[in-house]
Amino acid sequence: MGDRKPLLAVLNGEARVVPPIWLMRQAGRYLPEYQELRAKAGSFLDTCYNPQTAARITLQPIERFGFDAAILFSDILVVPDALGQKVWFESGSGPRLVPVESDSDIAALAESFDIEKLSPVFETIDRVKGELPKSVAFIGFCGAPWTVASYMIAGRGTPDQAPARLFAFRRPEAFARLIDILADASIVYLIRQIDAGVETLQIFDSWAGVLPPLEFERWVVAPLKKIIGAVKTARPGVPIIAFVRGGATHLPGLAERLGADALGLDTAIDPVWAVKEIPAGTALQGNLDPLALLAGGAALDREIDAILHCFAGRPHIFNLGHGVLPETPLEHVAQLIGRVRRTGN
Ligand code: CP3
Repeated sequence: MGDRKPLLAVLNGEARVVPPIWLMRQAGRYLPEYQELRAKAGSFLDTCYNPQTAARITLQPIERFGFDAAILFSDILVVPDALGQKVWFESGSGPRLVPVESDSDIAALAESFDIEKLSPVFETIDRVKGELPKSVAFIGFCGAPWTVASYMIAGRGTPDQAPARLFAFRRPEAFARLIDILADASIVYLIRQIDAGVETLQIFDSWAGVLPPLEFERWVVAPLKKIIGAVKTARPGVPIIAFVRGGATHLPGLAERLGADALGLDTAIDPVWAVKEIPAGTALQGNLDPLALLAGGAALDREIDAILHCFAGRPHIFNLGHGVLPETPLEHVAQLIGRVRRTGN
């Protein structure tokens, strides 16, 4: 059945002459229709928890550009919210959380976890699935424990997530407990997303690249392996993409170690190296520089062509190496899709 959807075919190991394309943060601020709905919907979290609005936002990039996949409109920080941590978003400065500090703060999270708080997300999925064109795959997601924990400890985004790194060195047992709580909550959350109707999952470990090797094993590899194993046991057949940003030299063999079907590649990864070093059974996703998309013109064409050329013959999903930047002109996104599909600019 999946074969009618190019994205699912590639995740199943098929190389396509024209790779399926979607973009991280394809639903977001570069779209005027997003800005319009966001302005009416109240806070960012209220928007995430309004199934009617969140479903419309999920569908907006499909309607405008005809991407091969829709990604659920939500955020990775709804999981700390469901764990009872106070989370809010300030325009301009990004996410804010009341930082987790003590052992009892951490213990309280497990006690207060309430998956039903995320029922609006499942209702969003239910609404979207009936409205997707037949060839468009539906992607659910969560943040990886390390990345989510890094915001829970710092209480905000930081340049290098140093507060969580320091916490993990100073109090590894408490940190391990937090990672465990997040892994368990993520398993429940992802299974509920599948049951509501997503067809594939992406796990975002956006801050994996700041960890030294032993910490990478403990806080990135182990929990991702646990989550993917549990989800695959409970719901076999749903492909999983691991976006381990900054995974660098860890990437060869990583998909096998994690049990993932595909790896998302960030902008720094050389596609020639990736194709050679990452075993052929792993589908690869990426990895256009979001700044090339912002720049447009001949530089964008050149970067697109290089990526298409390097991944030719390999199961490949065209994407960015990180999310769409808010200032990105709409015409550049149209240029990208036209060039990837060879339907002109
Ligand atoms: O990709 C999509 O279109 C689906 C929705 C989605 C959002 N966030 C919507 C969003 C997804 C998959 C995410 C993932 C996410 N959220 C990550 C991992 C991927 C990455 O970018 O590294 C992280 C680290 C977060 C946490 C987060 N949420 C930050 C740091 C910010 C502020 C920075 C920013 O880009 O605004 C957000 C806010 C956010 N999440 C917005 C959107 C559309 C902007 C909110 C607004 O409208 O003001």
